[in-house]
Order: sequence, then C-alpha cells, then structure tokens
Amino acid sequence: MTIVIESPSALFAYCEEVRRTGRKVGFVPTMGALHEGHISLVQACAQHGANVCVLSIFVNPLQFGPNEDYSRYPRTFDADLALCRAAGVDVVYAPSREDMYPEGFQTHVEVSEITKRLEGTFRPTHYRGVTTVVLKLWNAVGACVSIFGRKDYQQWRVLSRMARDLNLPVEVLGANIVREPDGLAMSSRNRYLDADARERALAIAAGLRAAHDAFAAGERDPRRLEDLTLQPVAQAFDSIDYVEAVHAESLDPLTAPAASMVLLVAAHLGSTRLIDNLELGRDPRP
Ligand code: PAJ
Repeated sequence: MTIVIESPSALFAYCEEVRRTGRKVGFVPTMGALHEGHISLVQACAQHGANVCVLSIFVNPLQFGPNEDYSRYPRTFDADLALCRAAGVDVVYAPSREDMYPEGFQTHVEVSEITKRLEGTFRPTHYRGVTTVVLKLWNAVGACVSIFGRKDYQQWRVLSRMARDLNLPVEVLGANIVREPDGLAMSSRNRYLDADARERALAIAAGLRAAHDAFAAGERDPRRLEDLTLQPVAQAFDSIDYVEAVHAESLDPLTAPAASMVLLVAAHLGSTRLIDNLELGRDPRP
C-alpha cells in the first residue's frame, strides 16, 4: 500500500517508527513526471537493504534559473502516484511549497568547489537550490539510504560531498542511468521533444558510444575522447554547453589520462536542454 504524506513532521514520525522497529528507510527524492529511471531508484532502495521506500515529489523552484522551465515543468501527480503504487513505494512525500519555503525563507546551504564547473557554469544558482532542498528533504526523512541517478552525475557527487561534509546520517548511493532502447537517457524533459528533436537527441548517446568504443580499443587521451563525443552532438544540436572529460570523483578537468574518467555532456535542442554522461571503463555501452 502506498500512502501520501504532506507534512514534514508526519513524515519524520513515520520514519522514526520504521527505524525504532529496526528497519531501514530508503529515500528517493524526485521532482515527479516519473519514468523508468526514477522507478529503478525505488528498486535500488530494496537492493541496498531498505525495508521501506519513501519517494518525494516536489518541483523545487529554488533550483531553476529565471529563464528556465520551472513553470512548464511537467506536473503529473496522479500518474506518478499510480507508478509508485505499481512499484511498491511505501510513502509518497509531497510537501507543499509553504512547508518547503515558508514566508521569509532565507537559509541556504552551499557546496563550494565541485558545484562551480560544468552545470555550475551554465546554471550558477542551480546547485544551491538542489543542496538546500535535499537537506530539507533529508531532515524530514532522518537517517536513511538515499538513492540518486548517475544521470545527474555532478548532482550525485555534490550531494555525496554534502552528506560527508555535514556528517549527515545519510548513505548516498548512485544508480546507473536507465536508457530508452535506442540509447536516449530517460528524462522528464524528453516529453518536450517533438519527433524531429527526439531523433536528433540520439546524437548524445551516439557520441558517448563512440567514446566508449574508442576507450575499449585503448584510447585514453581525454581530448580525443571529448572530440569523439562532440562530433555527432555538434551536428545535431542547436547549441552545446559542454562536452568534457573530467576526473570521476573530483570532476576536475583532465590534462592527462586518469584512472577514472567521466565524459559529461549538456546541449540544447530548441528550448530543451539535455544532459548525459558516461563513466569510461565502468558504464555499459550506451
Ligand atoms: P529529478 O530530475 O526528478 O530526478 C530524480 C532522480 O532521478 C535523480 O536522482 C535523477 O538522477 C534520477 N534520474 C533521472 N533520470 C534518470 C535515468 N534516466 N536513469 C537513472 N536515474 C535517473 O534530480 C532531481 O529531480 C532534483 O534535482 C532533486 C534531487 C529531486 C532535487 O530537487
């Protein structure tokens, strides 16, 4: 049975009772418009020993820039709830905007270094919004294992850093990217794409696939791997924010091959911005 809880104190009481009876809470934060990628995180909760799965749905205004898609972000609560029921989610936490950002709200939390590059360059206030809302969500849940998708690779690294830096009672785990059969990474924003854009969007997976194959054949030069990824994306997309090979944990730029490298991509098709990535030597062929 899936129940819906709206108040932070009611959620905390529920989760305390779970912990008091020796069970483990799994927590999946989302902004709704759920798809198989989100549901894979619910499954990961159980795989990591959680007895109860809490999934939050809150479209967080603080993480959208002034010219971003906050107002048109898809809101599909009834369909989301049906998916949660089918997936065996125990609690859907759907806080109100007033509970999250009460009148006069003025407290933020910031992870300073690894938020600066990549997404941070193009969305300068984004991670401050993400870290602030996730800390609030974690406070409402309490001690838990919290699962994030590697689809938002930098976000997962930033939140892992925050949990460690602040000694939070949260185990942060990253789950693999779920892709459509043709390679497109699943995203709530894919529903903005018309048929033509949907086709062109495949260029990112094609670029990452080329880099994957080159890496498998021994290529280790970060510039060459970036270039292989860039070529199809440059042809199909309207503009590119970045195609970069960086160190997988620090996200620092690479001048020489590293033991663990991740290729990160962000690019625009019309007014839709898509991101994707591949951790070389680890992730399956996109
Ligand atoms: P949202 O974009 O709804 O994503 C919720 C979670 O689902 C994130 O951890 C994201 O990485 C994961 N996810 C999305 N698409 C995925 C895919 N194709 N495969 C695997 N995981 C995928 O990320 C956010 O919301 C917000 O920033 C949030 C953390 C909820 C804070 O507001």
